[in-house]
Amino acid sequence: MDGFQYRDAQLFCEDCSVDRIADEAGTPLYVYSKAALCSRYRDLSTAFGDVPTTVCFSVKSCSSLGVLNALGQAGSSFDVVSGGELFRVVQAGGDPARVVFAGVGKSEREIRYALEMGILMFNVESHAELKNIAGIAQSMGKIAPVALRLNPDVDPKTHRHTTTGKKENKFGLDLGRAERVVREISKMESVALLGLHAHIGSPVNSTSPYEQSLGRITGFLASNAEHCASVEYINVGGGFGLVYSEESVPAFSDYASVIVPQVKAAGKKLIIEPGRCIAGNAGILLSTVEYVKSNGEKTFVIIDTGMNDLLRPALYDAYHRIWPTHTDCPPPQMTSTAETLSRSATSVLMSADIVGPICESGDTFAKDRPLPRVYRGDRLAIFSSGAYGYSMSSCYNSRPRAAEVLVDGDAWNIIRRRETWEDLVALENT
Ligand code: LLP
Repeated sequence: MDGFQYRDAQLFCEDCSVDRIADEAGTPLYVYSKAALCSRYRDLSTAFGDVPTTVCFSVKSCSSLGVLNALGQAGSSFDVVSGGELFRVVQAGGDPARVVFAGVGKSEREIRYALEMGILMFNVESHAELKNIAGIAQSMGKIAPVALRLNPDVDPKTHRHTTTGKKENKFGLDLGRAERVVREISKMESVALLGLHAHIGSPVNSTSPYEQSLGRITGFLASNAEHCASVEYINVGGGFGLVYSEESVPAFSDYASVIVPQVKAAGKKLIIEPGRCIAGNAGILLSTVEYVKSNGEKTFVIIDTGMNDLLRPALYDAYHRIWPTHTDCPPPQMTSTAETLSRSATSVLMSADIVGPICESGDTFAKDRPLPRVYRGDRLAIFSSGAYGYSMSSCYNSRPRAAEVLVDGDAWNIIRRRETWEDLVALENT
């Protein structure tokens, strides 16, 4: 379930009308369904249930305390890429002992904090980083648990900005260097090798890149068996796909069918680091139409929400389904096959560019998009915004960031208040 459906021509999140929420909380507004977040987490855990699996929700995808708390209570572990993300997990009540920490540029302060908190392991991305972690751990009288992040040189066939597992990408160690590093780890006293890790990209809308990547990891384990004797975990990273429009995306069970057998055969436990596939469709971004204008050829629907609130369309040309929150014409993808868009409904659709208020032409959410006719004051829902939505938002053009709401059944709660103009300047001096 993704938690959002139209009832009597109105969009609901679980049992709450999103318009009623926006009446009180305003727009732009991120709205998440707790039931959707938790059910996606549980579906994923079940799909990989044939091997001991730790599901580490990728904090970067949706890092608000209310969301982390809900997932932590559902049983999730966490994947972080900064000290700040680890701090968030701790503030949200998450267990640091179930946190994995990746990233090519971990600072001394971040490493120290993670060692103090007792994280499950660092995903180490270079020889230089390993030496730094070893030195810091030694000075603290600790043994740092690590996984080596391998760069398997596999093409995930996704956007170039989010491809991470090819040799030319900055992430991980190529297999040749990794061999030398595992030999060195076995001689280090302040580091324990607990795992091998590879995150190849995001989203990965087919299973074969995982199959290839795991083949390289298990091959590496076999040919370095002596130095990898302490390895308990194989971490395949995140990247599982999400349906944004009508694209074909493997089911969780399809990903599991290529991953689980290889991990089982290697006799290891599995870690996965999903973000998008848990949070993506569990959240929408609500906006209000400010103006509708035409230049004679094109119609522009100008909304109160900009690329500072949701960067994905501007940065990746990403597609997000957009539809009014109040309409007797449900979007085609949300109707059952028996109930496809009627001819009369189609005839009232207009075609418009849906754009934000920011002073860049890139501040465009959709071009020539069919949309029921909308007017000033109408609300639009930008779907599939739960992952990499709020977490990538900014105050560009000095626009205070949006508020966030978590819905639970017929109740809802503001998990992050809207920023104010005063907040914009609170850290500044003249
Ligand atoms: N693990 C590591 C080490 C990662 O770098 C990432 C994402 C994940 C896990 C989670 O991947 P997911 O399951 O969410 O696909 N801003 C982009 C996505 C960037 C992904 C960065 N790394 C977007 O909006 O599409």
